[in-house]
Amino acid sequence: MRGVFQPWISRCRAPRAEDDIMASGGFYPAPDPLSRTDVGEPKRRCNVSFPRPEIQVTKPASAAAASAVPCPSLFSDSGGLAQNLVEAYLTVRNETERRTSPLTPEDQVIQSMPDASPAKWHRAHTTWFFEQFLLGEHCQGYQPFHPDYAFLFNSYYVSAGPRHARHQRGHLTRPGADEVTAYRRHVDAAVVKFFHEAGEDALKAIAPLVEVGLNHEQQHQELMLTDILHAFAQNPIPPAYDPAWTFPASTRTGDKWVSLNEGIHTVGHTDDSFHFDNEKPAHRALVGPVKLARKLVTNAEWIAFMQDGGYTTPTLWLMDGFAAVGNEAWQAPGHWREVDGEWHIMTLAGLKPVDPSAPVCHVSYYEADAFARWSGKHLPTEMEWEVAARAGQLNDAFGIVWQWTRSAYSPYPGYRAIEGALGEYNGKFMVNQLVLRGSSLATPEGHSRITYRNFFYPHHRWQFTGLRLADYAT
Ligand SMILES: [Fe+2]
Repeated sequence: MRGVFQPWISRCRAPRAEDDIMASGGFYPAPDPLSRTDVGEPKRRCNVSFPRPEIQVTKPASAAAASAVPCPSLFSDSGGLAQNLVEAYLTVRNETERRTSPLTPEDQVIQSMPDASPAKWHRAHTTWFFEQFLLGEHCQGYQPFHPDYAFLFNSYYVSAGPRHARHQRGHLTRPGADEVTAYRRHVDAAVVKFFHEAGEDALKAIAPLVEVGLNHEQQHQELMLTDILHAFAQNPIPPAYDPAWTFPASTRTGDKWVSLNEGIHTVGHTDDSFHFDNEKPAHRALVGPVKLARKLVTNAEWIAFMQDGGYTTPTLWLMDGFAAVGNEAWQAPGHWREVDGEWHIMTLAGLKPVDPSAPVCHVSYYEADAFARWSGKHLPTEMEWEVAARAGQLNDAFGIVWQWTRSAYSPYPGYRAIEGALGEYNGKFMVNQLVLRGSSLATPEGHSRITYRNFFYPHHRWQFTGLRLADYAT
């Protein structure tokens, strides 16, 4: 495990006991407004050092994650691994509940399309992950909270047994949100007890698994926001997840380009900081010559594309893309509505006028590709994106929208999925999807890095997805 999911290596200074956390509100603190105005000092629960990716990423405080706490690191030169694990575990678990806090029990049931999942399911599934892979396999004598929950909340792990159909997750009114809360508390208590009682050697062995579980839960924290936004966007009376939320500010630099001369570059994850297995092996790649746009494509540019017949000109589109335009009646990016002749967009703060200067969001790969063709440009490859990002030349690479690349999501040379159920985490999805790079406004703090490879199908557009252009013209 450690060879595949490498741990964060850093030093814990003075972790705060979980007893203090319980005293200050327990595992489930009072609702915390998720406002971009919250960009002041985050509410840290302990004075620990944070994960240090091989290249530190400075990203804008994302709106939904503004008051989130980065996941503390697990490893310490001076021992205390049990305490570090407790701190990291509770920090991430609390963030899930913080993001849940604006939602009613009814909000948590809805599944507005097969690709999205109910908030209640996200909360339970991330709990099942720890119950199944940590407690079930490593904690002797652990009793599952409920005998049917493994069936209900297994997502796609065939090795872990049968599971409920994904598209029917929204059919379940039971267990209710409160029962899911009880499930989370049961597993949290067992995990914390296990961390304290397992012993140093056992903890060293399971720490990489815990890291995977925490990063897995952070991925679902982002999905919780994109999924509830999609559900709210179907509501004729558009609800606000957080009325005080505002779209993150972007960097305005005009149409400057970053030139990458032809060269061989190392891409992929190279050090021992945490990464998913799909980011390795690091390898050399030929990149360039190419120019990448420093800035993200804006709504104003997208509206120009629309007004120029972008959605009705078949020569701009891939065949599958133009079929999607027809089948889905696309006339604009996802979550856009025309109100009294003006374009509006459904946001976490409800329906808002489209800001022409903001980066375009909720576009599919098909749309991004058509826009690039209309512009006389292209989408960059993921290698070009990574090389430019490593050089620090891309504005808004992180924290606003994931950026589509033209790279197929495929294994790096030499990649092999690990054995066992967790080998299903990434490897089996390496076909028919496209890579997105960067991170979005909904990505939890501490979860972004330059080598991160996100992936979605080309028609997907309910995530916070946008683009930057590439130019291969000589
Ligand atoms: Fe999952």
